[in-house]
Amino acid sequence: MSTTTKSAAPQSQYQPDANGRLLEVENLHVEFHTPDGIARAINGASFDLHQGETLAILGESGSGKSVTAQAIMGILDMPPAVIPEGAIRYAGHDLLTMPEEQRRKVRGPEISMIFQDALSSLNPTFPVGWQIGEMFRQHRGMNKSDAYAQAVRLMERVAIPAAKERVKQYPHQFSGGMRQRIMIAMAIALDPAVLIADEPTTALDVTVQAQIMALLAELQEERQMGLILITHDLGVVADVADRAAVMYAGRIVAKADIDDLYARPAHPYTRGLLESIPRLDQKGQTLAAIGGLPPNLMRIPPGCAFNPRCRMAQEICREQEPELRRVGNQESRCHFAEEVLNG
Ligand SMILES: Nc1ncnc2c1ncn2[C@@H]1O[C@H](COP(=O)(O)OP(=O)(O)O)[C@@H](O)[C@H]1O
Ligand code: SF4
Ligand SMILES: [Mg+2]
Repeated sequence: MSTTTKSAAPQSQYQPDANGRLLEVENLHVEFHTPDGIARAINGASFDLHQGETLAILGESGSGKSVTAQAIMGILDMPPAVIPEGAIRYAGHDLLTMPEEQRRKVRGPEISMIFQDALSSLNPTFPVGWQIGEMFRQHRGMNKSDAYAQAVRLMERVAIPAAKERVKQYPHQFSGGMRQRIMIAMAIALDPAVLIADEPTTALDVTVQAQIMALLAELQEERQMGLILITHDLGVVADVADRAAVMYAGRIVAKADIDDLYARPAHPYTRGLLESIPRLDQKGQTLAAIGGLPPNLMRIPPGCAFNPRCRMAQEICREQEPELRRVGNQESRCHFAEEVLNG
């Protein structure tokens, strides 16, 4: 592993297990207790992430992707959020029961995140270099000028032209793509072992999307980070992810190596999402592959949560909740997974 681009990061006390596993989310439940009732946003999600691996978390808006990321980061507002069950282990340590002081040392130096609304989360009143430097001042006790030097180094690393001249400019002086690069610079500043990127390209145009994905893939490779790429857009992760987990109504409904997932999906919802990818030969038209809407999380349908929208639904789907189970090389939460896989 190259250390030339590193900033003398202190040796981490957290190491992956013998199989290289860094992060393990097990049977996670998250509820929001609101005046209108309990919204069950996450309902038993389990997945893991290995060192040097890119995991895509896919699903429509409202499926629970960001809440999962916020739970891992420990930034959910509790209340209204409640975590009645589950564990999130980082290098074997449960983050959910870790004292806040220790957790603060994980957030940033160990697990870092690029937020969904990244473009608006830069502070308009401070120079970008000051905001990147904040990471070093806060976590490494650096002085102002050393922190600025680190900011320049990082801006160069994320390919912002004329970084030295631009380090004291303000966010509005940068394009959307360049601001996203600044957010990435902040997220990797402390050499985290895990980076979570929540819809990192959503607000950007297609060309810039591809550049940002390529940059993330490059940084992941260079630093051997575990990267979680969250997106509703299956078009942007096919080339960069190793594995994918598909979420629906706060459950993982499918897990597979990315190539298998795209080539031969084993869950009707995955198949629907793939059919919804806009295709260039259809002049940007999106096929309405999945009718209807995701369920109200206060009233998730019994049986398979996807049943009201599923073209393959049978009686059993309305009565019995399918387990996530293995079919071929994949996992699928569908009573008819074999038929889907082979269909
Ligand atoms: N603070 C909150 N209060 C109540 N409900 C929330 C809150 N945050 C998220 N939710 C609900 O949790 C569900 C999952 O949200 P989210 O994880 O943001 O979905 P996405 O997959 O689009 O990232 C949404 O339906 C949302 O309504
Ligand atoms: S269990 Fe039934 S409703 Fe659910 S995805 Fe499979 S076929 Fe469709
Ligand atoms: Mg989201």
